[in-house]
Parts: sequence; C-alpha cells; structure tokens
Amino acid sequence: MSETDGLCVESCERCPALVASRSRIVNGVGPDDADLLFLGEAPGQYEDEGGEPFVGRSGDVLDEALRDAGLSRADVRITNCVRCRPPDNRDPHKEELANCRGYLEAEIAAVDPDLVVTLGKVPTEHLLDRSVAVTKEAGEVQDARVGERSQRVLISVHPAATLYDASQRDTFTDAIAHAAELSGLADADGGQSRLGDY
Ligand code: URA
Repeated sequence: MSETDGLCVESCERCPALVASRSRIVNGVGPDDADLLFLGEAPGQYEDEGGEPFVGRSGDVLDEALRDAGLSRADVRITNCVRCRPPDNRDPHKEELANCRGYLEAEIAAVDPDLVVTLGKVPTEHLLDRSVAVTKEAGEVQDARVGERSQRVLISVHPAATLYDASQRDTFTDAIAHAAELSGLADADGGQSRLGDY
C-alpha cells in the first residue's frame, strides 16, 4: 500500500515521545472495503513488535468474540486512534490523538465502513467528542462526525476490560454480536449455523 491510499502511514515524526518509544508504525489491517471497522486506542507491546493491531491478549479476546458472533478477523478492519506505541502503555495524549486524527479520518473515508465499533473509552470519546461512561453506554449506536462524513458508531468496552473484570465479558460479547448483526455480516444465529458444515 502506498502513503497516498489513505490506509497506510509509512513515516511520521509528529509526536516526539511516540517516535522515541515505538519500534514501528502500526497500521490498520483487514479488507480495505470492510463493512465493519474496529477502533482501538494505540498499539501495546505486542502490536509494536508484530506490526499489527490487537495481537496480544486483548486481540485474543476480540478474536474470540468475533468467532462467537460468526465473524472472523479476516472479515473486518482493525485499527487504532494512534499508530505508535505510547511509552509504558500510557494513554495517548490529546495532542498525539490530534496529530494522528488525519490518518484515521483518511482510513475511515477510504474503507467507508457501515459501522465503526469503538473499543474502550479513548476511541469512543475521540470520535464522539464528549465524555462517555463506556460501561453504561456499551451497545448504543450513535452518529459521529469524522472528517467530512457522518459515521455510525457502536460503543463497546475495551476487550482488556474483560480480563480484569469478568462482569464486563457479557457487555463486550453482546456489543460485538450487536455489531455483527447491524453490519449484516454474521450468520443469522451467530457462529452456530457453521456447526452444520462439519
Ligand atoms: N489495545 C488497543 O487499544 N489497541 C491495540 O492494538 C492493542 C491493544
């Protein structure tokens, strides 16, 4: 992919702290015309090493929820608000989110998804531009202004939330199942109908 297709950032030095902490720029993955786009916060250690969003423990939780909803990782696009790993996995600063915003807007415009699923507080607040209690609002669908477009957004808790609070598991799984349903990508009964193939 080239830098001009809106999907891939090959070089950027806008955030000095992130340039110092990253091993590489982590671009989004998945079909460039996906109906469903998952938006995380920023790469962590595993993503920084592997060069792909959500490949650590959070990624395992996301993959499992996608499978339960009758989807696979290959069906969807996955990206982050910020493409470089923040030092010590801290939240990205406002200025860093702003510096990366143009790349995110270009990616969303290029992919043109029916639905963006925001994974956790940072991406949800970044797109909706207000403070959000994600555990309360998870599963809700709202419209957000993303660059020139009005984008349908489904709010979800972050997959990592399920690792330290088991009560978030259903909240997360239900939000992903709802996203699969709204996007029309899932089997009518989630992944279950596939069992008949074996
Ligand atoms: N958490 C995120 O928000 N993004 C990733 O890519 C991995 C973990």
